[in-house]
Formats: sequence, structure tokens, C-alpha cells
Amino acid sequence: MNRKIIVLDTTLRDGEQVPGAKLNMQQKIETAQQLRRLNVDIIEAGFPASSEGDFRAVQEIAKSVGDSVSITALARAVKSDIDAVYESIKLAQDPLIHIVLGTSNIHVEKKFSRSKEAVLQMGVDAVKYAKTLLPHVQYSTEDASRSDFEYLWKTIEAVVKAGATMINVPDTVGYAVPEEFGELIRRIHERLKNLDDRVILSVHCHNDLGLATANTLSAIKNGAEKIECTINGLGERAGNASLEEVVMALKVRENYYQCHTHVQTKELLRTSRLVSHLTGLDVQVNKAITGENAFAHSSGIHQDGLLKDKQVYEIMSPEEVGADSMELILTARSGRHAFKNTVEKLGFDTGDEMDFEQLFEEFLQLADAKKEVYDHDVFYLVTNHRAVDG
Ligand code: KIV
Ligand code: ZN
Repeated sequence: MNRKIIVLDTTLRDGEQVPGAKLNMQQKIETAQQLRRLNVDIIEAGFPASSEGDFRAVQEIAKSVGDSVSITALARAVKSDIDAVYESIKLAQDPLIHIVLGTSNIHVEKKFSRSKEAVLQMGVDAVKYAKTLLPHVQYSTEDASRSDFEYLWKTIEAVVKAGATMINVPDTVGYAVPEEFGELIRRIHERLKNLDDRVILSVHCHNDLGLATANTLSAIKNGAEKIECTINGLGERAGNASLEEVVMALKVRENYYQCHTHVQTKELLRTSRLVSHLTGLDVQVNKAITGENAFAHSSGIHQDGLLKDKQVYEIMSPEEVGADSMELILTARSGRHAFKNTVEKLGFDTGDEMDFEQLFEEFLQLADAKKEVYDHDVFYLVTNHRAVDG
């Protein structure tokens, strides 16, 4: 069975926690509108208890796009935070309260200095209170991947009985590795199914070891039904799982995962560029899916193969993510085939009219000197060659 994976985008909450990535109200609304175009299922719009500005931004986002996409916002397990979330998202059509509370020994002992039982009770009380306000409540077991499994499960069981409709399992500090995280999700999924199969199992992975995408995919393979991610992988420290990577992995490898999302992948590049522009944070050139070089080919062997059939070196078409068609970067390593292709693309006839071998030699000299040769260089090269030829 091909399952639908629910996509929650947290660019405006976890993503906005990146130092220097502060967005003003208008920029947040613009981002939310683009996320709606991208067709994510849920937008996490902020952390309303953190400031008056954040509260108002969440409220405006809920008003602006909450008629067609579910809106959530984050609360700690305290009444005042939950009230702030409720007040800010209540005008959305499908509002969801998101409560977070740690389950690892480190969090329980160092952050709360309370007994495990007392922390668990805080979580249960928070869910019960949230349920008096809204029907949909997500509970995040912060630092789940470093938690004792039986305590983690005890917490999940108790908050589900208290009314939580989604359980989110975060790898808060990016500590997990794919096999281990997949196994954690498999065990939770197995028990959750027996407890209440209507409850949605979600994951939220951080990228401290560069494994956020891999961990998210491993979780999906093991039963996760919802994923949390951000555009360009923005987020605390090394960031969150990158939405564009997870979504395209599911699309390109649909047969393997037997899952799909409702994300409009043709909007991915535009969304990535918008978020980069608004936050002022560049996307690395070799970033998968949306980096400048994601569909650029420079080696002669690859260019020759691609010109014969794109599938030789392309696993997805650039158009699928909203990029222009593949780009051949001419360098001294480009062969005759790629060079000839560019000359002809510029409207020149490479037949009888010119000494192609001579022209190719001139191109190699230029490429040695310049490293990368652009279309305007080739244009100049050909016109100059013709003029000299007379
Ligand atoms: O990383 C984390 O644990 C979080 C939670 C609020 C889900 O961001
Ligand atoms: Zn996070």
C-alpha cells in the first residue's frame, strides 16, 4: 500500500531559531503563502509565548493562510504557553496545539530538577488542558532518541490516554543514526498501533551528524506517518531535516518507500530561493535538490552521456523541482560533443562552414585560461573564428 506522508514545515519556528535568520511580519506571511503554494500539510508558524511579536505573527499567518492549510505553534507544557498557542491559531480552519516536554534523563534531571513521575504528570496535565481548547494536540517527547525506552513509552501511553492525537518523536540533538532511529520508531509504532491506531506517529530530526534526512527516511520505512522539516534544512545548530531532500527522496524512490507526499515539487526551488533571500542565508552550491550546482554537469564524460540520454547521469529532471533544464558547464574537460552542442544551441552551423577541429582547439586554450567557459565566451569564440577565417 502506498501511504501518504504528512509534511509539517517548521521553517517559521525551528528554522527561525537560526542566529541571524529573523524575519519580520511581512516576510513571515510571504513565506507562509509560499509554503501553502508548496502544498505542505501543516505550517508550524512560531512560538507565540516567546514574544508579543511572535504571537502576532502566528495570528496573522493563521488568518492569512489558515483557511487552506493546518496551522500549529509550539507550547511548553504550561497553561500560559498553551493559551498563547490557542489564542494565536484559533481562527485557522484546522488548528493544532503542539506541546513539547523532555523525556531523557538529562532533560528530566538537569532541566526540570523533578522526578520522572512529576514530569510525566506535567505532560498529561498539559494535554488534558489543551484538549479542553482544541481537538487536535501533538505531543513532542523532546530528546526522545536519548531517552530510556520504557519511560519514553510510558509517557507516550499516558499522553495518548489523556487525548494527544499526534506523537512526535524528536532526535533533538541529532544524536541518532539511521538504523537505530528506525528501530526506535518501529518499536513505538508497534505499540502505538495496539494502543490507538488513530494516533499519528511523527518524527523531527536534527542534523548535527549530517543524518537528519537519512534518519527521517529510516523512520518512514519503519512506520512514521508524519515528518517535520524545514526549507533549506534551516534550524537550531546544524539544522533540521531538509524538506526538499526528504520529499524528493520519497518521490524518486517511491517504489522503495511505497510512500508519497502532496508537496508540489515544482515549487521547491522557488521556495528555497525565497527563504534564502528573506533570511539572508545562502544555500550551499552543492546542496542536494536546490543548490546552484544540483543539476550542473561539468565533466566531459558525463556531458557526453547526458547528451546521448539524460537518464545516464540524471535521477530526476530539474523541471520536477522547478529548475531550468540541466546545465552543461564547459571546461577543459568537456569533450567535443558538449562543445558542439553549445555552438549549435547558439545558432551556429558546425557543418561545412567552419573548421570545427580548429575551433575546438581554440576552445581548449580558452578553457585552460578561463577554467569555465560560458555561452557568451563561445559566441565570441565562434564569431571571432569566422572573422579570422575570412
Ligand atoms: O528539536 C526538538 O526537539 C524540537 C521540538 C520542539 C519538537 O524542536
Ligand atoms: Zn527541533
